Formats: sequence, C-alpha cells, structure tokens
Amino acid sequence: MSVDKSPAKIAGMFDAIAGRYDLLNGVLSGGLDRYWRRRAIRALALTGRERLLDVCTGTADVAMAGARAGAARVVGVDFAGAMLAHGLAKLRGGALDSQVALVRGDAMRLPVADASVDAATIAFGIRNVQQPEVACAELWRVLKPGGRLAILEFGLPVVPAVRPLYLWYFKHVLPRIGRVVSRHQLAYDYLPQSVGSFPFGDAFGRILSATGFSQVAARPLTLGIVYLYSAKKPDQAPAP
Ligand SMILES: C[S@@+](CC[C@H](N)C(=O)[O-])C[C@H]1O[C@@H](n2cnc3c(N)ncnc32)[C@H](O)[C@@H]1O
Repeated sequence: MSVDKSPAKIAGMFDAIAGRYDLLNGVLSGGLDRYWRRRAIRALALTGRERLLDVCTGTADVAMAGARAGAARVVGVDFAGAMLAHGLAKLRGGALDSQVALVRGDAMRLPVADASVDAATIAFGIRNVQQPEVACAELWRVLKPGGRLAILEFGLPVVPAVRPLYLWYFKHVLPRIGRVVSRHQLAYDYLPQSVGSFPFGDAFGRILSATGFSQVAARPLTLGIVYLYSAKKPDQAPAP
C-alpha cells in the first residue's frame, strides 16, 4: 500500500497531535520508548565533547537524552513547528536549556554545514520522510569523517508466535487508543500503515551501506518491535 508522505501532510499531522504526542508515546509503548531512546544514545558512545544532531527531533526527547548523556552541544531539527514548540517548553529554564537548540528544517535538506557534527540520531522519523535515501545522504554529508549514527525505527517482531498478536494490537487496538487520546482521526492509522510499508532490519541496513556508511548494524530491540541501526561515516570519507 502506498502511503502519502508529502511534507505538508506529515508536518500537519504531527502539528495536530503535538500536545498529546509524549503522553501517547508512553501509553502505547508501555514506557518502553524511553528505554529505546536511551539505547540509541548509548550506541553513540559519547565522551562529552561531541556536537550531536538529532533529526526529526519532535518534542526533543532524544536531543535531551543526548544532552543528559554528555553531548557538549545538541541541535534538534524538525519541520513540525508545534512539535518543536512542545520541545522548547520542556527545555525552557531547565538544566539542558543552554546545551540544546531546536531548529525548524527538513531532513531532506538539513540546515547544517558539511562535516560539522560528531554524532547524529533519528528516532522514529526516517520512515516518515518522503525520500529516506535523501535523508540518509544528508546525515552522511553533515557528519564528520569518523562520526557515528544511531537510528531507531519500528520493525515487526521476529518471533513467529508473537507476530500475529502484535499485529492485532498494532492494527486494531493502537489506532483506537491513538484516535481517542489524540483526537486525530488518521494519525494512528498512519502509524501501522507507514511501518508496514517501510524496510526494516537488513533491508534498511543496506540503504545505509549504499549511502556510504560503514560498520552498519541492525539490532532488534524488544523482539523486533523496534530496530536500532548503528553506523559510522568512514574516517577517510571523501568530501560530500
Ligand atoms: C514519530 S515523531 C518522532 C519524534 C522524536 N524523534 C521521538 O523520538 O519521539 C516523527 C517526527 O519526525 C518529523 N519529520 C518527519 N519527516 C520529517 C522531515 N522530512 N523533516 C523534518 N522532520 C520530519 C515529524 O514532524 C515528527 O516530529
């Protein structure tokens, strides 16, 4: 099934649910979302000196986790203004305020200079991007040689006995809860549709390898409900 991922539709949908987004993440994942984000940040092995870019930052949870884990400076980019506004409200006046900046921009045309960040993340964002290969090329462009990438995205459970049960929850229960809590008719129908049509596991790993990344790994988390992709821009990478 082809899913409409035009930027206006995707940004409008996230703007419409921004106020309930964090609540729904916690409810629908049973609190696992925080664990998944922590795993992504851990994969970057931050030392405290890095400049970290979080693409599709939404309400800035990964950006904040990166700052807490010791990134010297974090920039979060997203094209949905209302999602960023909620992220800014969480940051305002807090301990991470001066460490994290949020910027409006498109993952397919990042407002970031070539080879300027040490590490990059994108959590539950890449499947929404109209041309994911273009976003991967942009991540490659902005990372310094040797820079590390961590991507979180939904997959489908690998264990055959679990898969039908999960699909029932994902296709029938989750959209109903999402609709009631977000008061948005389509956003949580879009979630299973977009996951079902996006490559995961080794198939997405091959996109990262084709982009030029090395040390590409696809690790299933929580039985494969989510995948953590890690990769590195080679130390001797040619200029973009
Ligand atoms: C499911 S949310 C994930 C937010 C956050 N990373 C998290 O872990 O909760 C997806 C986010 O990606 C953003 N997004 C999708 N496509 C984008 C694009 N092409 N450029 C910038 N942001 C995009 C949406 O606006 C939304 O805020």
